Amino acid sequence: MVHCSDNLSRLPPYLFSAINILKKSAYEKKLDVIDLTMGNPDLPTPKHIVERLCETVNEHPRTHRYPQAKGIPKFRKTVAEWYEKRFGIKLDPEHEVLALIGSKEGVGHLVMSYFNPGDIALISNPGYPVYFNSTILAGGQVYDLPLLKENDYLPDLTKIPTNVLKRAKILFLNYPNNPTAAVIEDLNFLKEVVKFAKKYDLLVVYDNAYCEITFDGYVAPAFLQIPGAKDVGIEFYSFSKTYNMAGWRIGFAVGNADLLAPLEKFKSFLDYGVAMFIQLSAVLALSYKQDCVQEIVEVYRRRRDKFVTGLNKIGWNVEKPKGTFYLWAPLPEPYKHMGSLEFSELLIEKTGIAICPGVGFGTYGEGYVRIALVTHDNRFHDALLRLKKFLKKRE
Ligand SMILES: Cc1ncc(COP(=O)(O)O)c(C=O)c1O
Repeated sequence: MVHCSDNLSRLPPYLFSAINILKKSAYEKKLDVIDLTMGNPDLPTPKHIVERLCETVNEHPRTHRYPQAKGIPKFRKTVAEWYEKRFGIKLDPEHEVLALIGSKEGVGHLVMSYFNPGDIALISNPGYPVYFNSTILAGGQVYDLPLLKENDYLPDLTKIPTNVLKRAKILFLNYPNNPTAAVIEDLNFLKEVVKFAKKYDLLVVYDNAYCEITFDGYVAPAFLQIPGAKDVGIEFYSFSKTYNMAGWRIGFAVGNADLLAPLEKFKSFLDYGVAMFIQLSAVLALSYKQDCVQEIVEVYRRRRDKFVTGLNKIGWNVEKPKGTFYLWAPLPEPYKHMGSLEFSELLIEKTGIAICPGVGFGTYGEGYVRIALVTHDNRFHDALLRLKKFLKKRE
């Protein structure tokens, strides 16, 4: 029997594959599951974007052909225009913008295009699992940067030993953050990151997938807004959350042309890029008025306010995040002694509510669960009633 690669066998099943098993068993028991696990928007893609797709597919058969792998010129030009309007930074659409089949694909292939066996990636823990999984698949090593509440979920770069820094190649940052929902409040942190990356010759990968999902007047920055950032960094963006386009698979990377070039080269050997009709729909998404984004954000704000207020009322103390559609919740008082996986299993079994155990995002996520606000508004009322009963039983 032929075996898969050592690197692949070093990985446990993907977090959501394990959670799907839990959900499947709940469905088999005929439980009415309220699914708050994956960051998979429940609302449809805005109508004008869907209509553009249908019209393009129907009327422009040339868009059915292989696309240009790095993104068609119109897509790259529109990204550069959006980026300048949003962040005040000019990009060269030819060399500083790259289309991706979603930012997950981009992150994975970026690591593979840079890593030699034994190279180190500096990765937030807890963090979006693709950073550490792709590092391991590429034969690299993960160095954990703990994200702790007392540090506002920012990594403490001064704690990284010099022998690690000598072998480190990439530093991953992601704010608004998945899973902690933390945001960057003070740009001084990013200024320090730029200095640090220059000193230790690091590539900074700034994942800004949630930059538009922010509340209460908070506006998320781009890494490239920081002076000198373009010398050391690239950024990843996604249409999945901003426009409810998770299934369409489109995102983009921007930044330093020399730093983007290995990713473009690597991808050219493996994929043909994003279908042209999807790129053209994404062009409309970015260039049309952004009311739909405000409406989407408003839905999450309403859900966040309702659910956080309700949770606090029933004795589960959870903070209101300024960004993302996640709640990062410490295990409720009577269950503090449990592991987050054990708690999540118990919760789905007793209430039908499915959430992510914090430990699935890394060891420093233990003691927390991540709740994604991605189900119909009515279901949150139901979830609160079930949780109230569940917590009361334990008092
Ligand atoms: C932090 C972060 N980055 C990237 C992604 C992937 O986004 P995409 O759908 O563009 O691949 C996600 C998806 O949940 C995410 O949470």
